[in-house]
Amino acid sequence: MKKIVILTGAGISAESGLGTFRDEGGLWAQHRIEDVATPEGFARDPQLVHDFYNARRGQAGSARPNAAHAALARLESEHPAEVVIVTQNVDGLHEAAGSKAVIHMHGRLSAALCAACEHRWEAPEAMRPDDSCPACGAADSRPDIVWFGEMPYHMSAIWDHLREADLFAAIGTSGEVYPAAAFVQDTDRHGAHTVELNLAPSSVVSVFSETRFGKATEIVPQWVDNLLRG
Ligand code: OAD
Repeated sequence: MKKIVILTGAGISAESGLGTFRDEGGLWAQHRIEDVATPEGFARDPQLVHDFYNARRGQAGSARPNAAHAALARLESEHPAEVVIVTQNVDGLHEAAGSKAVIHMHGRLSAALCAACEHRWEAPEAMRPDDSCPACGAADSRPDIVWFGEMPYHMSAIWDHLREADLFAAIGTSGEVYPAAAFVQDTDRHGAHTVELNLAPSSVVSVFSETRFGKATEIVPQWVDNLLRG
């Protein structure tokens, strides 16, 4: 085995105290996607959008990685194959657990992005609509988050990794958001073994060759132990 690609979603951070989107009482039950996660919503009411991400940045800042994040970091350091995490999560818990090869396809709460010149810098704990860009001075800053209707980041590198994967795992993601939900089809077509690790079956569960259901902090360390035993 040469390459293991792991897609993670909100479910892996749930037991670190960060809410998921579509589970009962999740973020999308409390906030309208159109208001807080689209470019149009930001244009209409930037303060509301900043308030939403400022709150999430605060929560993520005090969250600690859990046993599932730690197990993936151990997999990367101990398995002879290259291990790449592609995460939809905007928290920094994979890095906090020690993972090095992490691709943030939906952006990061810890960064601010200038919509005028695309400069990125470390986001203050509370961003405000009149924050100005340290590079060009424009008062056009936004959270460095990919919103609905925008292209996820690093897609060309991600498709390359997926094509080369011998093993693909999706952890704690509902399979509702594309293109991430299509990764399993792509890797399956290229002959990879595919595994879903989730609390409940995702929308694309039928495509996976193997499934393991339970809490991420239980099933991910078990799965990693099995892989490391060979
Ligand atoms: P969802 O909220 O859609 O799905 C969370 C998944 O985690 C579900 O499949 C749950 O069964 C599972 N889950 C919940 N608790 C778990 C636990 N303790 N252990 C294991 N699994 C658990 O979140 P995502 O699939 O990450 O995008 O959502 C994808 C994207 O939709 C997000 O990146 C976000 C959102 O809109 C943007 O904001 C751009």
